[in-house]
Amino acid sequence: MPGIVIVGAQWGDEGKGKVTDLLAAGADAIVRFQGGNNAGHTIVRDGELFKFHLIPSGILYPEKACVIGNGVVLDPRILLEEIEGLKRRGIDVGNLRISANAHLIMPYHVLLDTAGEVKLGKLSIGTTRRGIGPCYADKALRLGIRVQDLLDEKILRKKILAALEPKQQALRELSVQRRKLRKEAGEGARQGGDPSVADAPDPRLDLHTMTEEFAGYGHRLEPHIADTSRLCWNLLDGGGTVLFEGAQATLLDLDHGTYPFVTSSNPIAGAACVGAGVGPTDIDEVWGVAKAYATRVGAGPFPTELLDSVGRQMLEAGHEFGTTTGRERRCGWMDLVALRYAVRLNRMSALAVTKLDVLSGIDPLRVAVRYRSREGAVFDSFPYHQSILHSAQPEYEELPGFEADLSACRSEADLPPQARAYLDFVAGFVGVPIRLVGVGPGRDQVVWMGDEPRLRAA
Ligand code: IMP
Repeated sequence: MPGIVIVGAQWGDEGKGKVTDLLAAGADAIVRFQGGNNAGHTIVRDGELFKFHLIPSGILYPEKACVIGNGVVLDPRILLEEIEGLKRRGIDVGNLRISANAHLIMPYHVLLDTAGEVKLGKLSIGTTRRGIGPCYADKALRLGIRVQDLLDEKILRKKILAALEPKQQALRELSVQRRKLRKEAGEGARQGGDPSVADAPDPRLDLHTMTEEFAGYGHRLEPHIADTSRLCWNLLDGGGTVLFEGAQATLLDLDHGTYPFVTSSNPIAGAACVGAGVGPTDIDEVWGVAKAYATRVGAGPFPTELLDSVGRQMLEAGHEFGTTTGRERRCGWMDLVALRYAVRLNRMSALAVTKLDVLSGIDPLRVAVRYRSREGAVFDSFPYHQSILHSAQPEYEELPGFEADLSACRSEADLPPQARAYLDFVAGFVGVPIRLVGVGPGRDQVVWMGDEPRLRAA
């Protein structure tokens, strides 16, 4: 099983980090292939809590290559903070490799992300404001700055200069619009407001300062910069196992998610090939990770959302607060219409269901099995039309809940029959086996269904 992709099956925060960490034990390399520091994964190892935004979960294995692939957008300041944080905790980061082709999040991307959200007002997407969208936009416009550009100050300056001019103009325009709006609202033109659209030129956007700052990052990152596609090929060709770790999730996919309430990359399995530089036949397995309920951060349709005490219970028992922004996550029932869509889109071969323990004490349990549109039409599959999805009412199957605390369960037999019935229903409905179940945050708090996979590191 040389190539394995791990993807989020819902709206993110499913616990991919923990599943990656477990499967990584038998892998030679762990590769992130998209997204940036909008992601956040938490791993609990021997009682110690690790939070990562950019670095792949595999960093806790010093003998394995830990790769940031070309499809990732990388804020070097954040990456260096993570590296320094790990070093302070005695973790060796010598195995970290960064693709020379990955794009850099520049200060103007962060400013534009915030300014764009402010401008959208009520229609905002609720981005993490980390500059992700503007950075991917520059990549597509061919105005991006890549990791390799950090290694030549002359080229770096030229590229920043070319990219900077349209950004300054865009930020100026947004600032003018904002001032106009504030004036219309009767506020003083310079009063309050968002720093990203302030009137004075932003010192962070000075060409000289930015070039110096980024060249400095280049010196510090240089030992890690590599041809990471080749690294993957060498391992795969030698019979090794490579894990491709997705960030965000299927329903946040730029093409297949709930557009425009999505991220600006493709978190689905197919994108692992592009974002890491391997071929489709290098992929042998696709593991989807889904929570036993559902959560979403930011705006956008969420048919099974619960705004009642059950949703609150999920939020509190599941500690559903964003790793990156600290925002409360919206919570709801597991949506099997959406999950079946994710299973097919990623052609999943296995499913990991996390946080089953959070559901204890909720009776009955519900899972959405179809939607009904405002006009009464029934949708057994995920509707492609945004307006239908926005007003879709889920119809539920009711299943008996369980009272027991699952946190000490370690085998299928330890799970209460209602919990097993719940998992069986989910697996049967979406047509993919559940191989792993999470029953608590700890690394050992899992139940392998059937045999634990025997991966072989080369
Ligand atoms: P962006 O990726 O910061 O542009 O945000 C776009 C949308 O994706 C927003 O709704 C974010 O809340 C959501 N998002 C981005 N990253 C994550 C994540 O790691 N988990 C959950 N939602 C995310």
